[in-house]
Amino acid sequence: MLAKHLNAQITAVDFIQEFLDDLTLRADQAGVADRIATLACSMDELPFADEELDAIWSEGAIYNIGFEKGVSEWRRFLKSGGLLVASEITWITDYRPSEIQEHWDAEYPEIDTAAAKIKILEKYGYSPIGYFVLPENCWVEEYYAPMQSRFEEFLFRHKSSGEAMAIVQAEQKEIDLYSRFKAYYSYGVYIATKI
Ligand SMILES: C[S@@+](CC[C@H](N)C(=O)[O-])C[C@H]1O[C@@H](n2cnc3c(N)ncnc32)[C@H](O)[C@@H]1O
Repeated sequence: MLAKHLNAQITAVDFIQEFLDDLTLRADQAGVADRIATLACSMDELPFADEELDAIWSEGAIYNIGFEKGVSEWRRFLKSGGLLVASEITWITDYRPSEIQEHWDAEYPEIDTAAAKIKILEKYGYSPIGYFVLPENCWVEEYYAPMQSRFEEFLFRHKSSGEAMAIVQAEQKEIDLYSRFKAYYSYGVYIATKI
């Protein structure tokens, strides 16, 4: 999407080469492969030079190293005035039932409100310029439904091993919790410029 909409050279980072190969294939089909280079690398060991990048775009991924660590460590790669766009799981109310609080505290203790995330951006030298919450269809239609439709084939492929069953059960638990408690959390998308 970025390559289609921007006149930019993009470096796509993931530490799983197979995912990058799939991206290259799709970029080729979309006619934008010449604008995308791939880099198999951990996001906490990025090789970019200081002030090399105009923008950093990270959807559903900064949690792998934690929002605060990502925001603080990636800042030096951005030019002054450069843009950070990062999505992060976010409490969207000030109060929530203990069941969902306990679940996410165990899964991702950095989960917090937008106010707290914006405070982190400000602490590390960014000026927040936008924030919005991903709507329900992003969770259900774009993520959970396609994943659920593959559970059966996944279990078959792994001969319903204990490990495969545990993965499916954990995902199903997250889906059930989302359907019961979606009024209390979502993905927040944070847009900020480097001061
Ligand atoms: C939930 S996916 C999101 C992928 C993509 N941004 C999207 O929106 O579809 C998280 C991705 O982070 C990658 N990942 C996990 N830990 C990583 C790390 N330390 N460095 C780089 N990539 C990592 C995973 O391989 C996975 O592709």
